[in-house]
Formats: sequence, C-alpha cells, structure tokens
Amino acid sequence: MAEFEDNVPFAPSGQGYGRDPAVTLDESVRPRSLDDFIGQDELRANLRVYLGAARERGKALDHTLFYGNPGLGKTTLAQIMAAELGVNLICTSGPVLERSGDLAAILTNLGRNDILFVDEIHRMPIAVEEVLYPAMEDFKLDLVIGQGPAARTVKIDLEPFTLVGATTRMGLISSPLRDRFGIVARLEYYTPGDLARVVQRTARILGVEVTPEGAEEIGRRSRGTPRIANRLLRRVRDFALVRGNGRVTFEEAAAALKRMDVDENGLDQMDRKLLEVLITHYDGGPVGIKTLAVACSEEVRTIEDIYEPYLIQCGFLKRTPRGRMATAKAYKHLKPLLS
Ligand SMILES: Nc1ncnc2c1ncn2[C@@H]1O[C@H](COP(=O)(O)OP(=O)(O)OP(=O)(O)O)[C@@H](O)[C@H]1O
Ligand SMILES: [Mg+2]
Repeated sequence: MAEFEDNVPFAPSGQGYGRDPAVTLDESVRPRSLDDFIGQDELRANLRVYLGAARERGKALDHTLFYGNPGLGKTTLAQIMAAELGVNLICTSGPVLERSGDLAAILTNLGRNDILFVDEIHRMPIAVEEVLYPAMEDFKLDLVIGQGPAARTVKIDLEPFTLVGATTRMGLISSPLRDRFGIVARLEYYTPGDLARVVQRTARILGVEVTPEGAEEIGRRSRGTPRIANRLLRRVRDFALVRGNGRVTFEEAAAALKRMDVDENGLDQMDRKLLEVLITHYDGGPVGIKTLAVACSEEVRTIEDIYEPYLIQCGFLKRTPRGRMATAKAYKHLKPLLS
C-alpha cells in the first residue's frame, strides 16, 4: 500500500523522510491505469479482457503470475490491477514471509476480492508456500495449532481473493505453485520506441522539456527497461541544466550518456567489464558463472538477474552447458577497448 501513497514527490511526511528522493520520484511517475501503461501491447490487451470479465462477474480475478527482468513493470501492473478493479492491494514479498503464520495473518485479513501482491515470490520458504496452496485453490486455510501429539488442524474460510505474484526467476518457482496461477504472463524488454514514449511521459510529469530526438536517444540506450529510461532521463536532465538551458535534445542526451559511460547499445561499465574479462582472461569462454562473478567482483545473482539477460538479448553473450561465452558481436563491440 505504501507505494500507492508515495505520489507526492519529496513528501516530507513519515515514510517519505530520509528516503532517496529518486525512489520517491520513481513512484510518482508510475502509471496508474492500463491506458497509462506503455508497451507490452498483447499482455495489456489480455489483462483488459480479464479485468473486464472479473468486474462484470463480480468475482475475484484469477491468480496471476508476472515474470520478467527487474524494472519492466511487474509491481506497476499489480497496482494498476487493484486500481482498475477498485479493490485493496496488500503488498508483501517472499523473503518477508518467514513463517507460515505470517502469511496466515495476512490471508485472514483480506477483504472480498482484494489483491495480495507477493513480490519475489520465488524466495518464499516452502513451508509458507504450502499454506498458499489450499488458500489459492479453495480459499481455505489449514492451520496447525499446537505441537506434537496435541497438534490439531483447523480449517478457516477465507474471502475470495486474487494472488498476484511477481518473479524475476521463473525457473525457481515450484511447479505446484506455478500450476495454481490461472494467468501467467511474461514481461518482455521494451522496444526503443516504447521507451521513448516512457521518457516523454515521465518528462511531462517532471516538467522537463525533451525533444523527440532526445527522448529517442535515451530510449535507445535504456536496455529495454522503463526503470532505466526514467533514471537516465533524470540524470540527463541534470547535465542539460548545468551545461545548457535544461532542454533535453539529442546532443544533450548523447553527451550526458557518454559522461555516464552508457554506450550506444545501452551497455554500462559493468556490462563491458563482464565481456572484457570473458574475452581477455578466458579467451571468450566458456567459463562458469561463479568464476566470472569473482573475476568481476560482482555477485552471481546480480550478474544473472541484471547484466546477463540483456547481454544475451543483444547477442553479446551466450549461455552454454559449459558456461558463458562471448559472441563474435561482443568481440566486435569491444574492439576499440581491447586494442
Ligand atoms: N509500461 C510502463 N510504462 C511507463 N512506465 C513504466 C512502465 N513499466 C514500468 N514503468 C516505470 O518503471 C518503474 C519500474 O517498474 P516496476 O517497479 O513495476 O518494475 P518491476 O518489474 O516490479 O521491477 P522489480 O523486479 O525490480 O521489482 C516504475 O516506477 C514505472 O515508473
Ligand atoms: Mg517490483
């Protein structure tokens, strides 16, 4: 819920205090309705149908699982769904739910047709996950009270609700859990054109003047990710303010992105370091992800979740059974760096 209340930039009250202003701003530019949500056309069209049908029938929407790389709009979509259905959104996340009692407490407090959003659902402990099965299937809770021979099970009826799960790692979701979702949707990387629209929308909200070419340049270098597009826009705006009159043109965008070490493909320092290590230390691979992580002083998870998917998508990196390999395209791209 907290994320919803964050729509005032730099809100000086309670939660807003002491938080990174960029985070608060990020919340304020979050789309609030499906109409506002840019790109992912097929998913958006399907969701519109499902939401319309659920509204018409007055029933809870089917449980929905969103998967896709960080910053593509999973949390945003969960918030939009609750807003479009006019129901409460209760947010939690996999690692926070340590004991089954934590989840039981949340479930019993849900109102009719409410949405329970579980972020990073792949990190939910298995004991907690098992509580979820009957809850998802029959809106019932099997609670074990007491321990040992005195233990007994009580069944509690729940209000119908919708579970919306989000994950960056579909492969880590157990199949019993996955099978209980009626809607499973993958968020794809955005096209540069869509990202240019994201930049223009955010610029309008932040009161930044940006030319179409400026927006396109930022969109093109945002690794297919709206969160990154928004972040780059804010930094480019800063450079444009200090260097010029604050207007984000193609030239301003290109100069600022160069200063930030974001290249024409949207690769940043870390992306290039990864490829460079792979090429110079390991002859282009194959090399195991753990070795690569150590060589780059980065965590395996960060490489797997953030860097690698985009490098693979762009065709710079290949995943093989024996490890990661640099492609010919990577050699070509890094050539100026390597010589
Ligand atoms: N389709 C979109 N149109 C406009 N802005 C978007 C869109 N999708 C995401 N954004 C912006 O990108 C930011 C990141 O989106 P969001 O937090 O929903 O990503 P996420 O998939 O939940 O990421 P994570 O896996 O890190 O939790 C949002 O604050 C929002 O402003
Ligand atoms: Mg999220």
